[in-house]
Amino acid sequence: MKPNKQLTLMLGGAITLLLAGCAATTPVPDYEALLTQMMSGSFRDEGIAKTERLQQDSVNLACSKAQGAALPDAVAAPLQAAALKSVPKPANGQYLGDWREGEKLAQNGRGMTWTDKSAAPSANGGNCYNCHQISKAELSFGTIGPSLYQYGKLRGVSDPQSAAAAPIVDYTWAKLWNAKAFNACSEMPRFGHGGLLDETQLKHLMALLLDPQSPVNQ
Ligand code: HEC
Repeated sequence: MKPNKQLTLMLGGAITLLLAGCAATTPVPDYEALLTQMMSGSFRDEGIAKTERLQQDSVNLACSKAQGAALPDAVAAPLQAAALKSVPKPANGQYLGDWREGEKLAQNGRGMTWTDKSAAPSANGGNCYNCHQISKAELSFGTIGPSLYQYGKLRGVSDPQSAAAAPIVDYTWAKLWNAKAFNACSEMPRFGHGGLLDETQLKHLMALLLDPQSPVNQ
């Protein structure tokens, strides 16, 4: 069969026009708006899991914008300082609870899904082993975060109530309350700040990390 000359010419012309059009006028899509649209279209409120979780605060926005690169100091420093300033001290001045309860919380990855009934922090676990080695007895742990085995011992904490231990105790409390106070784009959940765990639970985790009796420090 003979090729249809007229059709070939027409097609050629159309393609040339199309290519010229692409080079000259194709607008760059607003990827941020498209992403927001995709995210909000992909989720819905269900039980205790609400889509308001998709809303980013200033530190989330800065880190999203950096796309995995480190933030410049001039951007990170004020965000971290504001986060640190908002960390409250425990109401009764007592930082350490019971490490046995802390270990249970560290093991527990439950909470905050739409199949969970309560949105109260007391219904949540800390899911710490998902990212950290902690006690030596637990062999199943993630490595997104550093090992916390012998956390207190390696930092020379023999009496968590002593003045010598205060800087480590303060730092650990603030890190658990809001990990972004020291590292703006930390991947660690902001347990106190985000209302994921309450003060009592955080104290139990403090004891797990810092109590000399805790298996973590043997
Ligand atoms: C999604 C992963 C993730 C989870 C879950 C997580 N962490 Fe972290 N954590 C990290 C990462 C990553 C770092 C190191 C980077 C940073 O934040 O500075 C870290 C750092 C830390 C540090 C500071 C260590 C140091 O040497 O200064 C402590 C303490 C800590 N985590 C405790 C916990 C505890 C306790 C829990 C559970 C309540 C927990 N983490 C849950 C990822 C996680």
